[in-house]
Amino acid sequence: MLNTEKIRADFNVLNQKGVSAPVYLDSACMSLKPNNVIKAMNDYYFNFPACAGRSSHKLGDKVTNKVKEARELVQKFINAKSENEIIFTRNTTEGLNLLVNSLDFKKGDIVLISDKEHNSNLVPWLVLRDKIGVEVKIISANEDGTFNLENFSKLISGVKLVSIVHTSNLDGYTNPAKEIIEIAHKNGALVCLDAAQSIPHRKIDVQDLDVDFLSFSGHKMLGPTGTGVFYGKKELLEKLAPFLVGGDTVEFSTYDSYKMLPVPEKFEAGLQDYAGIIGLGEAVKYLSQFDWSDIREHELKLNAYITTELKKIKNIKIIGPEDPKLRSGIVNFYIDGTDMHKFAIMLDEVANISIRSGQHCVHSWFKGKGIHNSARVSLYLYNTMADAEAFINNLNKVLKVF
Ligand code: ALA
Repeated sequence: MLNTEKIRADFNVLNQKGVSAPVYLDSACMSLKPNNVIKAMNDYYFNFPACAGRSSHKLGDKVTNKVKEARELVQKFINAKSENEIIFTRNTTEGLNLLVNSLDFKKGDIVLISDKEHNSNLVPWLVLRDKIGVEVKIISANEDGTFNLENFSKLISGVKLVSIVHTSNLDGYTNPAKEIIEIAHKNGALVCLDAAQSIPHRKIDVQDLDVDFLSFSGHKMLGPTGTGVFYGKKELLEKLAPFLVGGDTVEFSTYDSYKMLPVPEKFEAGLQDYAGIIGLGEAVKYLSQFDWSDIREHELKLNAYITTELKKIKNIKIIGPEDPKLRSGIVNFYIDGTDMHKFAIMLDEVANISIRSGQHCVHSWFKGKGIHNSARVSLYLYNTMADAEAFINNLNKVLKVF
């Protein structure tokens, strides 16, 4: 069982003197940061704010070693075979764009995605379609948002790459990645997972999944804002042609030639966010002290309470499967004909409750369903039953005004 009191003591934003702590229910957008992450970042800026991998002096060596340590921590966290399979990025989006722009796509190649993709895993493919003529095919989910293996199996033949969300930011549902990957591989397709919403909440073992590529953000898993990781199997990364090149991506250059460095260097062009990378390593250390089953159980308990209470309210519709067990830490809901933005703003103003409203960067899904917008509660390990109760009590008050 999680000790939320102890956990909350690690987050400065929940313990500011003279300021009442926010009821923070927007971790699917941005998680809070524990103090060890902030301290490690400050340590870089205060004490050794130099370059990694270039300068042969004590400060430079310290950064190089810290970045190496962070890479190894991430490698172990996702059980990658080698630390060279870990490429640091700014976010999930950048990792997905890296793949879109580095794999050898040609006109007519088929890319398969789902009908619940975030713009980050839809728009880059549509841009590639318009640029070189790849075909983008869409797998339709079941009515309740769960994955339809039959639809998937019908579309898989001839596909070059399946690029699919692991846990949806729309409804919290986790696609059956292992089955998807197995079927895709049997049909000769590669698979990339958008793990932005899964990695903060469940064990990801890339070898067990046998996934080819995986992209995720640090900032949704307690890490610094604007950090991310792109993982790829080494033999595949070696074949990719990096789209962002320059400083520290080459072994040497002449006026008319160059020799690329091996992975991961060839993908990490220019000076990096060293403080962010080091902070991400600390976030991995912080998360690694917990059992994933405890995090899941905790989120589920709060989700089950919120779901039960929401179901008592006439007109509220929950997006995705009804069973909270299938929605991990997310409860996304709407009321027909109601602007959920106004609703979210009111909750913030009257009760200091932070939730996200809008179309959550999944415009395609909202447009397809004809739904204007929704309000999303997303939970994490520092939330308490008191947070969930505050949300429900104030929701009922705000609804009266509506
Ligand atoms: N993908 C992020 C969210 O769902 C931004 O809020």
